[in-house]
Amino acid sequence: MSKHHYVYGNWKMNHGPAKAAEVLSELEPVTEKLSHTTVGIAAPAVSLPKALELTTASALKVGSQNVHWEESGAFTGEISVGMLQEIGCDFTLTGHSERRHIFGETDQMIAKRTIAGLSKNLEVVFCVGELLEEREAGKTTEVLQTQIGALLPELTAELSKNMIIAYEPVWAIGTGKVAGAEEILQAHKDIVDYWAEVSDAPCPPILYGGSVSPDNFAEIIRLDNVSGALVGGASLVAEKFSKLIAISEEA
Ligand code: 13P
Repeated sequence: MSKHHYVYGNWKMNHGPAKAAEVLSELEPVTEKLSHTTVGIAAPAVSLPKALELTTASALKVGSQNVHWEESGAFTGEISVGMLQEIGCDFTLTGHSERRHIFGETDQMIAKRTIAGLSKNLEVVFCVGELLEEREAGKTTEVLQTQIGALLPELTAELSKNMIIAYEPVWAIGTGKVAGAEEILQAHKDIVDYWAEVSDAPCPPILYGGSVSPDNFAEIIRLDNVSGALVGGASLVAEKFSKLIAISEEA
């Protein structure tokens, strides 16, 4: 029997409600009968209501690209777990590299966001990954351990059941420069090994992200400890994203 896979798209700051509706309607037939793939789209906040309305009868999950740890208050520009759940969101991303490196979110902030989501039964796709200079300095393992380690004070075995980890090397995001098989294998193994050291719970599924495309996904999805992909650019076009889903179903 095939292992369960996850093919999640991150639309980033693309696709307002009209375009979201167009792409999701094209994806509908593809997501109708999947045997071992969960498909999700993290849409911009303004497109979430439309996306949720169009997918009520579908297995496709719709999620947010971030979430705040407080339920309400003076946090301009933020959205709470309760708000996402009120409209029916299935999941959220946290710790995406663009949040870390463009918007300066720290490991501690990201841990608070992640724990807040998990504590209220919102699935969280927690993103980790090293910068090019960190990789070149031989610090990849340390960076991954620090990013995951920030969750540990509050991450119970029960909470971790609702978490997915996405390993996205920052240098491979949006660059067309996909990580090599050895690099992906090593980073995913680093995460599995570290998890075994620090937790009694099973390691969450680990997705790879960074320039995933229909040309490279068949190889990536077959690597040890890879349970799927978090996809940026190739998730914006239904035809490309559909190919990724088909590759996952074949693997
Ligand atoms: P690309 O697939 O465009 O490289 O983006 C990856 C990513 O950041 C997904 O979260």
